[in-house]
Amino acid sequence: MDLRNKVIVITGAARGLGAAMAKRLAQQGARLALVDLDAASIAAAASACEGAADVRTYGANVADEAQVEALFAQVVSDFGALDGLVNNAGITRDALLIKYKDGELVDKMSLKDWQAVIDVNLTGVFLCGREAAAHMAALGNGGVIVNISSISRAGNVGQSNYSATKSGVEAMAVTWAKELARHGIRTGAVAPGFINTEMVAAMPDNAKEKIAGMVPLRRMGEPDEIAQAVQFIFENDYFSGRLIEVDGALRL
Ligand code: CAA
Repeated sequence: MDLRNKVIVITGAARGLGAAMAKRLAQQGARLALVDLDAASIAAAASACEGAADVRTYGANVADEAQVEALFAQVVSDFGALDGLVNNAGITRDALLIKYKDGELVDKMSLKDWQAVIDVNLTGVFLCGREAAAHMAALGNGGVIVNISSISRAGNVGQSNYSATKSGVEAMAVTWAKELARHGIRTGAVAPGFINTEMVAAMPDNAKEKIAGMVPLRRMGEPDEIAQAVQFIFENDYFSGRLIEVDGALRL
């Protein structure tokens, strides 16, 4: 896909990886629909997209079916096209499955924390992917859908909820590659390692130090290094249904 003038939706675009993707895809001449929970918070990310042919911002909760349906209908109405989606919106609610201290059960991962992560990271990707695919099929010009997974998809301590969702979005990318090829739609997934974002900065210091010491490349990744992998998936027309790992060679 030649990104010039293509209409790309990026969810979770206000900060971190999403904002970096917006900046990079704008530099390639894409027209962008930047989505976050609170539309006002995306203004800064939008203004950082120098050279973009057209950047618009939308407030929507990706976990809410009615809001996601309205969002994609609005984007297609505003731009008259839909060529790509990056399912990037994601949250963490880290906690051990069970926590024992001095032979006593002192805590459990709450159902609330489990469900919050499932709602945004898994149901949100399903809903946005479904609506994007429906519009792309109707418009008849094909498209590309990229799901942002994580190194944690393999299973990470404290992340029963997050790991399950990040494994799930990789599986959805494979499923959609098979189902949607007949509509000219390709898919892909990117699994970032530990990247310099607010999400990683919020980890407990001891966990962060332990991880940093385990990365063979001896540093955290930068958001633009993930955006670069997303750009590759858009541009390579024989790439579909596979996952790119960008993690400095770390294995959890
Ligand atoms: N491996 C094995 N056991 C561990 C462990 C580990 N890495 N970390 C903690 N434990 C166990 C230990 O048995 C520990 O007991 P002792 O050390 O006292 O023997 C017990 O858990 C309790 O540990 P804490 O007191 O630290 O428990 P906590 O409830 O306060 O916190 C935690 C536990 C939530 C897992 C916390 O340590 C944490 O947040 N860790 C970081 C999790 C993580 O890697 N998150 C990634 C966020 S960034 C991201 O998600 C982006 C991405 O895509 C990569």
